[in-house]
Amino acid sequence: MARVLVGVTGGIAAYKACELVRLLVKGGHEVVPLVTPGAERFVRAETFFALARLSPSDDLYVHLTRADLLVVAPLTANTLAKLAHGEADNLVAEAALAHRGPVLLAPAMNPRMWAHPATQANVEAVRSRGAAIVGPGEGETAEGEWGLGRMAEPEQIYARCRELLGETDSLAGREVLVSAGGTREPLDAVRFLGNRSSGRMGVALAEVSRRRGADVTLLAANLTVPPPPGVEVVETPTAEAMLEAALARRGADLVLMAAAVADYRPVERVDAKRPKDERTWQVELEPTHDVLQSLGERRTNGQVLVGFAAETGPDGLARAREKLSRKRVDLVVYNDVARADIGFDSDENEVVLVTASGERRIEKAPKDRIAATIVDTAEELLRERA
Ligand SMILES: Cc1cc2nc3c(=O)[nH]c(=O)nc-3n(C[C@H](O)[C@H](O)[C@H](O)COP(=O)(O)O)c2cc1C
Repeated sequence: MARVLVGVTGGIAAYKACELVRLLVKGGHEVVPLVTPGAERFVRAETFFALARLSPSDDLYVHLTRADLLVVAPLTANTLAKLAHGEADNLVAEAALAHRGPVLLAPAMNPRMWAHPATQANVEAVRSRGAAIVGPGEGETAEGEWGLGRMAEPEQIYARCRELLGETDSLAGREVLVSAGGTREPLDAVRFLGNRSSGRMGVALAEVSRRRGADVTLLAANLTVPPPPGVEVVETPTAEAMLEAALARRGADLVLMAAAVADYRPVERVDAKRPKDERTWQVELEPTHDVLQSLGERRTNGQVLVGFAAETGPDGLARAREKLSRKRVDLVVYNDVARADIGFDSDENEVVLVTASGERRIEKAPKDRIAATIVDTAEELLRERA
């Protein structure tokens, strides 16, 4: 489920935006309507809020909150000019300045307004900054003129929204198992041996898989970020819990093990809190069962198994390569966790995808983009199996 800001500006086609909101909501998305006073002359804001199953928000800044997509339909010549020049005197223009992510614009206006060099220059300005434009199409306008200026149909706009959100049906009917976060091995009732993994990478993989139509289960080990909506979440706080939950779901078509699972755990666990005294506390550690290896040993035909290698030092990549054959996995995603700018607890990552057929470096990028590339590669491997 994505969060979509839907801007509606003052053209007759505002009534068609009702259908767009309905399609987005039906597609499982959270819609935040942003309705200009110009648009309210045609359709009341309440209509959009009702279709979005929201009550008009008392949050003054709802248009400035994080969203996965901003779509403006219909887009008037007036608001287009504001977007082109960075003005911010209506909700939609303000949201467009604050939004970081894909933008889709569906202009609608009189054909002469559309053809005017000022409008065309404005279209070029927003397009050159990365906005996607859908339509306008040719046809008879509300005022009875023929030409280019009709807003694209809601179904067409919705299809472009899905594309920009990375939604496909390429994993429809597939079960995907993802692990995320870092396990914590208890030392006593309050202390644990843990690691710095936030779970962002695994959460991004779960989100990408869900957007491609998969049935996703997320094994969540102490996430510091919220899990994506629309996936089944199983809490797996320790390596043992992770192993048990993973083996119970080992029949998945695609397994993406991104969690940092403890390699060692304390041999003894003190049940109460160990009181402080002057003596040293010597903790003996034993190796945990390797989740990835256990899955590799039990893999079923056709399954694609993806492991992660969080390594440090010059031999890291060599260890990742070795993991590929030793653990019988199809793809190892290697990342150097010694770097402060990527990896653990960071929004970005830079990885090397290691498969039997070679290696591919993915340059530094936000984790959702890295996740999309990993899932692309996993899908290729799934297709090879079929
Ligand atoms: C009946 C009527 C229909 C209009 N249709 C459009 C239209 O389709 N496209 C457009 O760019 N402007 C249209 N306008 C003009 C806009 O409503 C006007 O430029 C307004 O200031 C837009 O404000 P907004 O961009 O903040 O919503 C129309 C005006 C009227 C009175």
